[in-house]
Amino acid sequence: MRIVVLVSGTGSNLQAVIDAVKAGELDVEIAAVGADREDTFGVQRSADAGLETFVVNFNSFETRAEWDAALTAKVASYQPDVVVSSGFMRIVSPEFIDTFGGKYLNTHPALLPAFPGAHGVRDALAYGVKVTGCTVHWADAGVDTGPIIAQEAVTVLPEDDQDSLHERIKVVERRLLVQTLGELASRTIPSPN
Ligand code: GRF
Repeated sequence: MRIVVLVSGTGSNLQAVIDAVKAGELDVEIAAVGADREDTFGVQRSADAGLETFVVNFNSFETRAEWDAALTAKVASYQPDVVVSSGFMRIVSPEFIDTFGGKYLNTHPALLPAFPGAHGVRDALAYGVKVTGCTVHWADAGVDTGPIIAQEAVTVLPEDDQDSLHERIKVVERRLLVQTLGELASRTIPSPN
């Protein structure tokens, strides 16, 4: 199974995938890692790992549609079976998702449909929930919407701040992402189409 991974930030979830592939624990080929901005640590660590990388810089395009079309063409050039959004902080078009047969996987640091959006950890903490968690799902063109594949709960501790809670969620999130990719690669779970 060939994947392209999209990142906007540090790419620690991506690192878990890279490590699992290198350890022979995950039968996936990372065809390329791409970002929507320059100078992400996610792209840097991918290049360091010897992976193909690319940037389709959101700010270099006049319109979102032009950026989306350029991203679609670039990702499609690697002919991935699955595209993974791993901390990719942009909404993509339905056309992007259709191009990849709906196989656009996202991870989110909350128990969807609760607390979607860029601040899922902060919002859950602010609401005062005692349990939150993470979700791996097939993304549609909405904000953190689409069929859920896997979820796991994480207890909120009284002393938690956003960083400490997010770090504990990310430990679970990394494991769930690697596990889900493994199940997709071995066809233990079905693809959306
Ligand atoms: C993850 O929790 C992801 O779900 C969220 O941002 C975080 C990305 O972390 N959208 P990283 O870039 O993989 O370290």
